[in-house]
Amino acid sequence: MDEKPKQTFYITTPIYYVNDVPHIGHAYTTIIADALSRYNKLAGKKVFFLTGTDEHGQKIEKSAQEKGIKPIELADKVVKRFKSLWEELDISYDYFIRTTEKRHENGVQDLFRKLKEKGDIYKGVYEGYYCVSCENFLSEDVPLEKEGHKICPDCGKEAGKVSEDCYFFRLSAYQDRLLELYEKDDPPFVRPESRLNEIRSFVKKGLKDLSITRSTVKWGISVPDDPDQSIYVWFDALNNYLTGIGYGWDKELYQTFWPPDIHLIGKDILRFHAVYWPAFLMAGDFPLPKTVYGHGWWLKDKTKMSKSRGNVLDPNIILKSFGTDALRYFLLREIPIGMDGNFSHEGFIHRCNSDLANDLGNLVQRTLIMIRKYFNAKIDTLGEEKSDDISLRKRFDVLKSRVMEHYDNYSINRALEEIWSYIGSVNKYLADSEPWSLAKDETQKKRLARILYQAACALRGISTLLYPVMPESAQKIWDLLGEEKKIEDEKLDNLKFEDYEVSREIKNPEPIFPRVDLKDFLKEEEKSDIETSKKEGEMSQISFNEFKKMDLRVAEILSAEKVEGTRKLIKLEVDIGDEKRQMVAGILETYEPEDLVGKKLVVIANLEPATIHGIESQAMLLAAMKDDGTAVIPFFTEDIPAGAKVQ
Ligand code: ME8
Ligand code: MG
Repeated sequence: MDEKPKQTFYITTPIYYVNDVPHIGHAYTTIIADALSRYNKLAGKKVFFLTGTDEHGQKIEKSAQEKGIKPIELADKVVKRFKSLWEELDISYDYFIRTTEKRHENGVQDLFRKLKEKGDIYKGVYEGYYCVSCENFLSEDVPLEKEGHKICPDCGKEAGKVSEDCYFFRLSAYQDRLLELYEKDDPPFVRPESRLNEIRSFVKKGLKDLSITRSTVKWGISVPDDPDQSIYVWFDALNNYLTGIGYGWDKELYQTFWPPDIHLIGKDILRFHAVYWPAFLMAGDFPLPKTVYGHGWWLKDKTKMSKSRGNVLDPNIILKSFGTDALRYFLLREIPIGMDGNFSHEGFIHRCNSDLANDLGNLVQRTLIMIRKYFNAKIDTLGEEKSDDISLRKRFDVLKSRVMEHYDNYSINRALEEIWSYIGSVNKYLADSEPWSLAKDETQKKRLARILYQAACALRGISTLLYPVMPESAQKIWDLLGEEKKIEDEKLDNLKFEDYEVSREIKNPEPIFPRVDLKDFLKEEEKSDIETSKKEGEMSQISFNEFKKMDLRVAEILSAEKVEGTRKLIKLEVDIGDEKRQMVAGILETYEPEDLVGKKLVVIANLEPATIHGIESQAMLLAAMKDDGTAVIPFFTEDIPAGAKVQ
C-alpha cells in the first residue's frame, strides 16, 4: 500500500499565567491537546503541539511584587511547577514556549513594527477602565459601580481607571473581514457553534480600536523605538503561536506547520482569540488558524475553578491515588468538550471503579488469565470463525472508523463512549460463549482457542484506539498481550482486528486499574492539601505592609456543632468584639464541639468569606497542622477580651 502524503497538524494550548500554580482547569486543556496530538500522530500526520507560559504584564508584575520577588523569579518557579505536572500527566508537547525568551520578544517587536509600518498601529491616549486579573480593557458599556471603579463583568473584580499615552491597533478596520471569517464552515472558525454566535454578535455591535501598549507597566516587551512604553500583554502572548513555531528563527519549521489547525482554549479567553488574534494576523497578512475551540469550564461548587476564587483542585492528589490515566480518562469522558462540568469526587471514583476497574480492567484480567491457564500462555491452533466471532471482528471495523471520525471532530467523549460500548459487547461475547465451560471438554480446545483469540484481538484493537487518551495503560495492555511494538509507532489506517499474532506469549496480568475507596481518597487529599500549602508558603514572601493588612483578633467561641455529613468540620459561632461571626473549621478530629465553647483563640477577621460544605465561613481560625492532617489550636490561657488586636 502506498503511504499517504504526510499531512500536518498544529495544535496549541493557551500559554498559562505564571501568577497561578497549575490546577485541574489547566490540566484539562493540556490533556485534551495531548490526546488530539497523539491521535493525529497515530492517524499518520506530522504533528506539532505547543504549550507554554505567559510571563509578562501587570498581573505578574503585581503578583511578584506582593511576594517580594522579581517577576522573572516568580516565572522561573511557576514554570517548574507546570513542567513537572506536564511530565506527570504524560503530556507530549513538542515545545514549551516562555514569553520571556529572547526570540519570542524579538518576534513580537518585529510584528509590532510590521503593523505600524502598514499604518494599523498609531499613537493616542487611552482613557478607560482596566481589569488586571483579566488583563483586559473594559468596554465602555460596563456601568460605573462606585466612585472611580467598575466591576469587571468577566471575573467580578474591581477594575481601576487608566489614563495613559499608548499605541492603538486599528481593530475597527477589520470588523467586516472578521464577520466574513465567521461565515466559513469548513471547519467553522469558532467552535462550538454557541460560542460562534456569541462572538458574531459581539463583533456586530461594532469594534473600537484597541490599545496595545501600556506606559504604566514596566514588566513587558518594550515598544520598538519607544522604550517608555511596553507592549500590552495580550498582543505579546497571542503572538506566541507564531514565535513558538519558528517565526523569525526557523523558517522551515514555520512553513511546515503554519497556520494552526486548532487553538484550544477555555471559553474565558475566546474574545482575545476569535476577535483580536485573527485581526492582528489579517493586518500582518498571515494565513489564519483553522479553528479556535473554546471549551467549557470545570466547576467546583457551581463556580469556575480558579486560583482567585480559592476553589481549585490540585491534580497531584488525584494522580497519587489513581494514576495519570484515570484522571485523563475522567476529564475527557465526563463532559463533551464544549460544556461545563462539575468536578465531584464521587463522580470521579464511580467512573474509575465502574468503567476502568470493572468494564475494561476485568476484561483484560479474564482474557489473559484464561489464556495462561488453558493454553499455558500461548494460544495454538484456532478453530474456524463462527458467526459471533465474525460479528465481533466486523463490529471492530465499524468502531474504528467511528472513533476516528469522533477524534477528527474533536468529540473525544463520543469516541470513548463508542469504545465502551464495544467493551460491553466483548464482555457479552465472553459471557455468552462461556469459555470456562468449554475448557472442561478436550474436544472443544480449538473452539476455546478461537474465542480467547478473538477477545485478545479485541483488546489489542481497543487499547490502540484508547492510546490517545490513556497512553500508559494502553501500552501496558499491549505489553501484557506479548506485543513487542510500541503503539506510538502504529498507524491507525493499517490497524486491523486480526493483527494480533496467535503465537504471542501472554504475560502474567497485574491489575491495571485499581479500585478506589472514597474514604481512602479523601484522606490522601487532606494530606496533600497540607503539602501544597507548605509548598506555597515556601514560594511566597510578604512585606510588612502586606502583613499589616490582616485583621487578626481574639475571638471567643459562643457555640460549636458538628457539620453533618463531614468527617472533620465543626461550625462555630464566635464573638470578635464588635460583632458575631459564623465560621467553619476542619478540627473535629482533634476537638469535641462542646469542649470548645468559652475558649478564646486567634482569627483572621477580614479574609474573603468562603463557602465550605454549603455554609458561609466568615472568618478563619489559626491552628497548627500536624503531619497526619489534624489541627491543633493555640488557645489563650491568660484573660483577654474578645476583639483584642493580635499582631
Ligand atoms: O488566560 N476549567 O492564562 P490562564 C477549564 N495567559 N479550563 C480552565 C479552568 C477551568 N476551571 N481554569 C483555567 C490566560 N482553565 C492567558 C492566556 S493565551 C495567548 C494567553 C484553562 O493561566 C483554560 O484553557 O488564566 C483557560 O482558557 C486557561 O486555563 C486560562 O489560563
Ligand atoms: Mg485566567
